[in-house]
Amino acid sequence: MIIQPRTRGFICLTCHPVGTANNVKKQIQYVQSQGAIENGPKKVLVIGASTGFGLSSRIAAAYGSGAATIGVFHGKAPSKGKTANAGWYNTAAFENDAAKDGLYAKSVHGDAFSMEVKEAAAALIKKDLGTVDLIVYSLAAPKRLDPISGTNFSSVLKPIGAPFSNKTVDFHAGTVSNITIQPVEKQEEIDNTIKVMGGEDWKLWIEVLEKAGVLGENVKTVAYSYIGPELTFPIYKNGTIGQAKIDLEKTVPTLNDLMKDVHGAAYVSVNKALVTQSSSAIPVVPLYISLLYKIMKEKGIHEGTIEQAYRLFKERLYTADGAVPVDEAGRIRIDDWEMRDDVQAEVSKLWDIATSENLAEISDIEGYRNEFFELFGFNDPTIDYDVEVDEIVPIASLE
Ligand code: NAD
Ligand code: NA
Repeated sequence: MIIQPRTRGFICLTCHPVGTANNVKKQIQYVQSQGAIENGPKKVLVIGASTGFGLSSRIAAAYGSGAATIGVFHGKAPSKGKTANAGWYNTAAFENDAAKDGLYAKSVHGDAFSMEVKEAAAALIKKDLGTVDLIVYSLAAPKRLDPISGTNFSSVLKPIGAPFSNKTVDFHAGTVSNITIQPVEKQEEIDNTIKVMGGEDWKLWIEVLEKAGVLGENVKTVAYSYIGPELTFPIYKNGTIGQAKIDLEKTVPTLNDLMKDVHGAAYVSVNKALVTQSSSAIPVVPLYISLLYKIMKEKGIHEGTIEQAYRLFKERLYTADGAVPVDEAGRIRIDDWEMRDDVQAEVSKLWDIATSENLAEISDIEGYRNEFFELFGFNDPTIDYDVEVDEIVPIASLE
């Protein structure tokens, strides 16, 4: 079929299999250009492996230290006349490349929150790898069906205590406007967001893997978080999602305890703000990202998910002397360049003056929009989007 972008709100409904495969290749080439990660992981489970930070973590492990990887994801399979989602095509492409390069890569497709998928992943590890030495937890989801209570929980992106008014951008139209987001009305909204994006599911995963005996000696697990600048605190750090991230941090000692027999270690890594399907759904944040990109690109310190994942492995989780540098709260910080004083001071200056009229000039809104469409395999200059492509792309390990 001929595949062109079709959007609804902030989401893109179509995906291009060749464009997404090229994205995966570019990430692989980046890691290859950087060289090996000495002492890097060898057998890796990535939960949320098909897009964003999870996909990049998988690629950094596979191509940085030759790791065998099992990726858990959910996504839409393609059908005649209907494209798959990006995660599906990315996973198919990654498995193909890995196979060509002699790297083990298999995927588990389904709801990562369910016990069935956890047990299927544990069984696959046991059968093919014996154990894992790294578990990356990189889920971003709006809902979670709790397998214990059977309750369906929904997360919200809201401030707590008071309404939050600030600028926001419609990145498709390039217009800046003011938005007021009402705070949560009930504690339940906070609790439910914690249920979806907090540490409970991470803990269930480690429990299942521990019981199955598939945690290797000195296993590490890492989950991803975000803090960001003060201007987004009401909607992020101090909002409902921020409470879920605090819960993730609170889960770390429990996981360390669960993994003590194998001398395991759990970490929360605070990552940089980036264009992903998840972050584009948060109000206010895309305007911040478009200003941040401009400044970080000017300073030559811009990173995408693959640069972040590689640096996380090389300079944090698998350093030459084995020490894992953390902040005063025990968190890994790979948002260090984003949070540099000079970067934040310049973003803040631009934030104050940003309008629809000057946006194209003072921000990297074009880069934002471009990267957003790239997530779905569009805006690739090497592809003719008027040419028919086969939308049915199988994932080798799921056949
Ligand atoms: P993303 O949407 O690109 O990736 C989410 C992944 O989760 C996908 O692989 C998806 O298939 C998978 N997933 C979601 N629900 C699932 C389910 N029920 N079962 C199986 N798989 C499921 O998002 P991302 O931005 O890469 O986010 C990953 C993590 O990184 C999140 O914890 C997020 O908060 C964090 N983070 C994001 C940013 C950012 O700016 N994007 C910054 C710092 C931290
Ligand atoms: Na991810």
